[in-house]
Amino acid sequence: MTFDYAARRERLARLLPAHEVHALLVTSPVNVRYLTGLASSNAAVLVRADGTALLATDNRYIGAARELDVPSVEAADVAGRLKEPGAGIEAASMSVAAYHRLGEGLVPLGPVVELLRAVKDEGELELIRTACEITDRAFADVAPKIAPGMTERELAGLLDRRMTELGADKPAFDTIVAAGENGAVPHHAPTARELRAGDLVTMDFGARYQGYHADMTRTVSLGPPAAWQREVYELVAAAQRAGRHALAPGASAGEVDAAARSVIEDAGHGTHFRHGLGHGVGLEIHEEPFLGPSRTGRLEDRVPITVEPGVYLPGRGGVRIEDTLVTREGGPELFTKTTKELLVL
Ligand code: GLY
Ligand code: MN
Ligand code: MN
Repeated sequence: MTFDYAARRERLARLLPAHEVHALLVTSPVNVRYLTGLASSNAAVLVRADGTALLATDNRYIGAARELDVPSVEAADVAGRLKEPGAGIEAASMSVAAYHRLGEGLVPLGPVVELLRAVKDEGELELIRTACEITDRAFADVAPKIAPGMTERELAGLLDRRMTELGADKPAFDTIVAAGENGAVPHHAPTARELRAGDLVTMDFGARYQGYHADMTRTVSLGPPAAWQREVYELVAAAQRAGRHALAPGASAGEVDAAARSVIEDAGHGTHFRHGLGHGVGLEIHEEPFLGPSRTGRLEDRVPITVEPGVYLPGRGGVRIEDTLVTREGGPELFTKTTKELLVL
């Protein structure tokens, strides 16, 4: 997939006067990739308000850089090579050490490229859709193999391997598998804990495809669920549905969070849901915009985003249900299509 990188740099160039800088020195590797197409761990691009740009990278990547539609130079110190007095810099990406060395005359800025990246073009959405299809298929292929005696780590390994077999670059993040009481820890790292009949098992995983991420969580029951397990499951499912229905261009990030959170609070479980409702996905697994009680800003059209409420009961277990969707005029498009009925395996 190739993108119109020059058009992206032009959009950025037009934003710079509002930030009172004549140029932005972009040092975040993901932002450099977004603006030039160069995927690397060490590159910078200077984008000027007049639309011109210069890319710098080291000799590991300079060959790839020279194939691109932006002038490039080789430099060990990529940011130092491109710095211009009065240019903006990305405060979130430049280290304090680099700032002490280079920062004089530069203007630290908050997210600029990140906010541009939040709204995707149809080509990007196609890649995220494919990443989500791989994720759904991996779940469908692995679910019949989930059985008592398998460890959390083994199950995570099956999901990761299947996603790679189906064409993923790699897993989008470290896969989470949490069985029984471990389900009460939202970001539990898989262990040698064996799955047992009577467990709820939460799997949070996704594929990365051509740099773009998918993110999905499903909680299944190993054997018939107890009454409390079904009750918590149905509560989280209702909250997740309310959150999905609230996703719309123009909705505020806080309102969408509240639509789901209020369902959980009204059931008396507010203190058992202590993370944000969701986040944008794209070239990063967590990116703008973020949905949470104190988040400001409004959603736009064509923003891929997760909706992932959970209820976590210490010592007992938990349920999280997460989809990746994209905002659309007329209602969100669901990318992760695996059923949200409670699967009893
Ligand atoms: N897998 C990390 C998250 O859901 O945000
Ligand atoms: Mn997730
Ligand atoms: Mn997520």
